[in-house]
Amino acid sequence: MGRYEESWRRAKEDPEGFWADAAEAIQWERPWDRVLDDSRPPFYRWFAGGRLNTCWNALDRHVAGGRAEQTALIYDSPVTGRIALWTYRQLRDEVARLAGAVAGLGVGKGDRVLIYMPMVPEAAMAMLACARLGAIHSVVFGGFAAPELATRIDDAKPKAILSASCGIEGQRVIPYKPLLDAAIGLAKAKPAACLILQREEARAELIPGRDRDWREAVAAARPADCVPVAATDPLYILYTSGTTGIPKGVVRDNGGHAVALAWSLKYIYGVEPGEVFWTASDVGWVVGHSYIVYAPLLHGATTVLYEGKPVGTPDAGAFWRVIAEHGVRVFFTAPTAFRAIKREDPEGKLIRKHDLSRFRALFLAGERADPPTVAWAEEQLGVPVIDHWWQTETGWPIAANCLGLEKLPVKHGSATRAVPGWDVQVLDPEGRPMKPGEVGALAVKLPLPPGALPTLWQADDRFRQSYLAEFPGFYATADAGLIDEDGYIHVMTRTDDIINVAGHRLSTGGIEEVLAAHPDVAECAVLGIADSLKGQVPIGLLVLKAGVARPPETVAAEAVRLVRERIGPVASFKTALVVQRLPKTRSGKILRGTMRRIADGQDWTMPATIDDPAILDEITAALKGAGLAPAKI
Ligand code: COA
Ligand code: AMP
Repeated sequence: MGRYEESWRRAKEDPEGFWADAAEAIQWERPWDRVLDDSRPPFYRWFAGGRLNTCWNALDRHVAGGRAEQTALIYDSPVTGRIALWTYRQLRDEVARLAGAVAGLGVGKGDRVLIYMPMVPEAAMAMLACARLGAIHSVVFGGFAAPELATRIDDAKPKAILSASCGIEGQRVIPYKPLLDAAIGLAKAKPAACLILQREEARAELIPGRDRDWREAVAAARPADCVPVAATDPLYILYTSGTTGIPKGVVRDNGGHAVALAWSLKYIYGVEPGEVFWTASDVGWVVGHSYIVYAPLLHGATTVLYEGKPVGTPDAGAFWRVIAEHGVRVFFTAPTAFRAIKREDPEGKLIRKHDLSRFRALFLAGERADPPTVAWAEEQLGVPVIDHWWQTETGWPIAANCLGLEKLPVKHGSATRAVPGWDVQVLDPEGRPMKPGEVGALAVKLPLPPGALPTLWQADDRFRQSYLAEFPGFYATADAGLIDEDGYIHVMTRTDDIINVAGHRLSTGGIEEVLAAHPDVAECAVLGIADSLKGQVPIGLLVLKAGVARPPETVAAEAVRLVRERIGPVASFKTALVVQRLPKTRSGKILRGTMRRIADGQDWTMPATIDDPAILDEITAALKGAGLAPAKI
């Protein structure tokens, strides 16, 4: 039996022993009473009774343990031309002072703090400062518009908000403060205070009495000590798209999270303490939480925080420059970034301009890694290219090729096998296990391992309904796929209305809610159609109310603007088409799947339940008229 198999079996047969061993990598203020508290199924808690501080484990522990002068954080920002490094000691000191400033805003243990920031080191420091105080952070991605931010403010009810004057997207400076002010204006739960980081690229007006200058507050603050919390206390809330416009507040606890993430960096990514690990994502996504900030620091590695894009900052060689310059051993990004690079540098000429001799492995996640992109990356880079599968909810990978245990053969199109701790099964609609090779719902047998969500923020019922009700005893991933004869997991598609746009998760239902609010729109459907760069992009089909005399193009343009204003540029919603009718089943269900296949140029069959087959001809003509025949990826 190989090391992978041995480890997976031990985690299944003796989960408490397995995770108790893994928990040795973490320093506890008080040990746990029970490794797994299973007294209240389907709610399970890990390390109940234990106490720790996540910031202590990410910073102070390493300062005390001999890593004080090792680089903890490298900030590399091609958009500002800055590169800066912090040792573990420097980062600990900065975070302790920032925590003092945040405490000065009245924030204490259990209070929520919302973080709305671009990819600057202060964003990571803000997360760690909250963890230091035992406060619960909720980071909101910068590409969301004010109403989305307001929804999250109202759900989390933060005592304070930490933000910056602007973000920089390629060549463009995006002022953040007007979005923040608008969101606070819309929200019912007003925060008492905001700490604003002024960036020279666009300074912001501060509102007296509410806003404080970040640097001044930090300079005046006294360093704050780490506040121990229960292992089961929340570390953060991260909102992610649900099936409606109301996002789900995924909760992460302190103890299970620290244990699982430290384990994962060593055994999945194969990274040793002291090595440089880089994830090109954003702190606003789970990938950024887990693998820009927490896992590398918990494990004593060096992390890179990159404020730039795969292309255009300044060119498609940016990633290779960063890998060579900082000695990155293992790199993690989304397949869409590689598609962007491949499009600009198909022969990999820019790759060969850099010394990548220390680079060991590339990990891809966030969306399906399409085999041509994986094959291109393997050929160009000459290192293992590992597709791995996970979700905001799980916090760390469900399926991967665990390089730190044993490299298994790579199969293109598969995220390899279930990671130790995850018992993945394919179920039919009645919840019966399916045979190898058969496509069904991918589900994980309860209890989920440490680090996965214990619940949704103040919404136990929604947690149960969303994830546990469909298959009793299992967590439903909402992904469909198969497990082959070799135990390899192939993730195919979502079973709900979530789409993946450039590795960003969006709800088509949420976009439909925005379109339906347009006064001229009677009904609408949003489809995620194939896109050769972003994987999927949303398009909207609109049926106008009877008697609307305004030109359809005007309404369509307004609809596009509305989605940008209400959800944000991250939705990449650029196409709305006005049609006469939408195809429906006889019971009135809109045939979104059939329309998507038509838009993607795939084979499709006339649904037997369709109300009026002629409508599909009209839709086909409208899609063709808009030039929608995207290249298949
Ligand atoms: N703040 C403000 N606006 C943002 C933003 C942020 N943090 N992030 C993205 N946006 C804006 C972009 O500027 C763009 O605006 P536009 O419509 O005015 O051009 C829009 O949101 C869409 O952004 P994106 O989907 O990222 O597309 P892009 O065309 O700017 O770049 C890629 C395409 C492939 C280069 C880019 O998506 C990328 O680097 N993806 C990596 C994926 C990734 O990190 N995923 C995280 C999960 S692993
Ligand atoms: P997010 O919560 O934003 O991380 O998105 C999670 C979703 O992205 C999953 O449910 C999948 O649909 C998709 N996803 C993530 N990683 C992969 C992968 N390696 N292969 C296929 N789909 C993936």
